[in-house]
Amino acid sequence: MTSPVSDSAERRRPLVVAIDGPAASGKSSTAKWVASELGMRHVDSGALYRAATASALRREPDSAKWTEDLVLAASSTVTLVAGETTFHARLDGAAAEAELRGKDVTSRVSLVARMPRVREWVNGLVRQAAEGHPVVVDGRDMGTAVFPQARVKIFLVADPWERAKRRLIQRFERQPTEAEIAEETDTLVHRDAKDESQTQRAVDAVLIDTTYLTQEEQVARIVALARQSQRASAG
Ligand code: C5P
Repeated sequence: MTSPVSDSAERRRPLVVAIDGPAASGKSSTAKWVASELGMRHVDSGALYRAATASALRREPDSAKWTEDLVLAASSTVTLVAGETTFHARLDGAAAEAELRGKDVTSRVSLVARMPRVREWVNGLVRQAAEGHPVVVDGRDMGTAVFPQARVKIFLVADPWERAKRRLIQRFERQPTEAEIAEETDTLVHRDAKDESQTQRAVDAVLIDTTYLTQEEQVARIVALARQSQRASAG
């Protein structure tokens, strides 16, 4: 039986579903889908690191010259705008999705993500987004550094080859060749290594290996966990 003290502590826990995991583990697309199933809003913390990197690139194309002050100053042009089911990172007030997902940003984003004050800035924006509305957040450290009290914590993993293949199907809208998958696997494994220090699996996170799961199955599992937790905190 749960004591009244832990019951009320449970009710005070923020309505946050935190989904963490390595690059291309399907976090964002899963988080977006889970959010729409649960009537919550999705926040993609990686998009904010990408936006900081893109804004720094706009200010200084040579990343060897970047300092933390330069990146932070450039990030003042980034805003996080609430949409109906998801928050959007904007650059100078405009959408810049292709720029955020492009190679120039992807190859430099881990460098920016290692800057402690940039991490504080991202964490502040993500926490602010969660203030007025229940959210599904995805990233590398949402269930540890940012929302240690999140009601539901998930850590998604998948075999690197499978992650690379899924990413390329999404990018090319066709089946990739073995050589293309091998090259992308290499890129992902390198990024995993660069992100190792900021990728943290919470001890109370549920590990889901999606290598052999469809996206529908992963979403169903997370939605079930979230509903179970909602019922537990309501009753
Ligand atoms: O998730 P995505 O691949 O878009 O994230 C881009 C980058 O942002 C990651 O490679 C990582 O360096 C950084 N990141 C992070 N902490 C988060 C989310 C993303 O360091 N919570």
